[in-house]
Amino acid sequence: MRDWLATDAGSLALIANHYQIATMLRNNFPFPFSIKNATDFIYRSKKNTAFNIQKAIFFKDKLVGAIGLELKDDVFKYNGEIGYWITPDQWGKGIATESVKLMIDFAFKAHPVKRIFAEVFSDNSASVRVLEKCSFEKEAILKNAIIKNGQFQDCYIFAIQNQHFLLPSNT
Ligand SMILES: CC(C)(COP(=O)(O)OP(=O)(O)OC[C@H]1O[C@@H](n2cnc3c(N)ncnc32)[C@H](O)[C@@H]1OP(=O)(O)O)[C@@H](O)C(=O)NCCC(=O)NCCS
Repeated sequence: MRDWLATDAGSLALIANHYQIATMLRNNFPFPFSIKNATDFIYRSKKNTAFNIQKAIFFKDKLVGAIGLELKDDVFKYNGEIGYWITPDQWGKGIATESVKLMIDFAFKAHPVKRIFAEVFSDNSASVRVLEKCSFEKEAILKNAIIKNGQFQDCYIFAIQNQHFLLPSNT
């Protein structure tokens, strides 16, 4: 995994332009996914701050997906929301699982994060499996919380706790 480069835009537009990806994500992930969408995404990701960490995922030197962690604020300040996707022709190779594990490890070591959570559509069995393999626990089911493609779905909240978290002294 590495930070995004402006030169990734062409490959990103190619690998992201799949309905199978967009249909499992929030509506701010467009389909079709244009070069302009790719350029805008990479531009925003360059603002990688302590609050928003975005990484490109590579497998055998090929760009195959993306992973991000958004750190929350106010009373949720030690929470991070994780999101990820892999281009469909690379599914089932363990890439998402490995990427999520790396991101958790990085976040727990390098940032003040107590809890990392994911909000998953109930239709998304593959992502549920990824989170289970990464030792996330299912915390909640938000009944009919999601409307996607004109259909209601439940939203699953999965989370993992940083057992070694020490509260900063200025909290
Ligand atoms: C979810 C996603 C990231 C998984 O990526 P991946 O690299 O294929 O994931 P992995 O190979 O690490 O693991 C997938 C697991 O799900 C399982 N799986 C795949 N399809 C499944 C299905 N329909 N039902 C149940 N399990 C399924 C695989 O068998 C594998 O589990 P296993 O190792 O126990 O066999 C990918 O499908 C994707 O990008 N989907 C669209 C975007 C998305 O859903 N993002 C997550 C939003 S929360």
